Amino acid sequence: MVTNSMELRFKATLKNESLARTAVISFIESLHPTAEIVGELKTIVSEAVSNAIIHGYHLDASKDVYVKGDIEDDVLSLIISDYGQGIKDIDLALTPHYTTRPDLERAGMGLTIIESLSDSFKIRSVINMGTRVMVTKKIVSAEEKVTDDVGQ
Ligand SMILES: Nc1ncnc2c1ncn2[C@@H]1O[C@H](COP(=O)(O)OP(=O)(O)O)[C@@H](O)[C@H]1O
Ligand SMILES: [Mg+2]
Repeated sequence: MVTNSMELRFKATLKNESLARTAVISFIESLHPTAEIVGELKTIVSEAVSNAIIHGYHLDASKDVYVKGDIEDDVLSLIISDYGQGIKDIDLALTPHYTTRPDLERAGMGLTIIESLSDSFKIRSVINMGTRVMVTKKIVSAEEKVTDDVGQ
């Protein structure tokens, strides 16, 4: 079994969104992900990290966001955490187009998109304690895809 793990902590500023994305993509590079998987993971990380920064911490750059990654065989598990304000009603937050910040022209689709691009998705949140988004995603390798395509 192939196992690997990583942890990243960074300040809650949108400048660090690309750091988080790039770190996660580098982390899975040895699994030779398809371009599609890379694109989907970038979206998952961007949406979860921007939620932590904007909603969890209200852009307070003195606070920390955490990204933890684990690889077991060809499955990536990611946990994106903040210790910010938390979510009052998770079911409501998961409703497509629901946003508490319409002023920011947010589409209210981030959590819905994360869920749809992940193989498994969990969110835990406690008011004034923070929010933790947990996803898993099978990393389809480019080689695997070529074999499949030829086989069809
Ligand atoms: N990490 C978080 N901390 C606090 N609230 C959050 C967090 N992530 C999501 N939320 C809440 O869930 C709502 C929906 O999130 P999302 O689907 O990403 O839409 P958007 O970010 O466009 O508002 C947010 O408006 C916010 O109220
Ligand atoms: Mg969002």
